[in-house]
Amino acid sequence: GAAVEVDISSLQPGEMKTVEWRGKPVWVVRRTQQQLDELKSLDGDMADPHSERTAFPTPEYAKNEWRSIKPEYLVLVGICTHLGCSPTSKFATGAQPSLPDDWKGGFFCPCHGSTFDMAGRVFKNKPAPDNLEVPPHMYLSDTKLLIG
Ligand code: FES
Repeated sequence: GAAVEVDISSLQPGEMKTVEWRGKPVWVVRRTQQQLDELKSLDGDMADPHSERTAFPTPEYAKNEWRSIKPEYLVLVGICTHLGCSPTSKFATGAQPSLPDDWKGGFFCPCHGSTFDMAGRVFKNKPAPDNLEVPPHMYLSDTKLLIG
């Protein structure tokens, strides 16, 4: 499949954009420092904190605490690893009453209630078995990303 080039020059901290790659939504999220700082404290709540499961293998270059090449920028396939629904993004601010209270924000799958953190890691005891997929990607420059 064709690789997709993404211009990230206008993406502000706390924002995300969605592009299509091989018919799938791919999210590019620019995380805030606070969102990055929270990740480590969540390790104990995660089903697979270090992305060791292999159903959706995490590329070697994203096998780190941020699940990304550059800490700020998270790149994920926006499809739930349970049964393929589309999770919605709920960042740390603006949590809604229907969302789990032990959850600091990230991504929420409305189909069966799986929650994911700001690195796409799935919380324990949720129906989704795996972290959200990190697609193959690389940087062409500081402002251009190539997915695929
Ligand atoms: Fe996402 Fe079931 S499809 S929790």
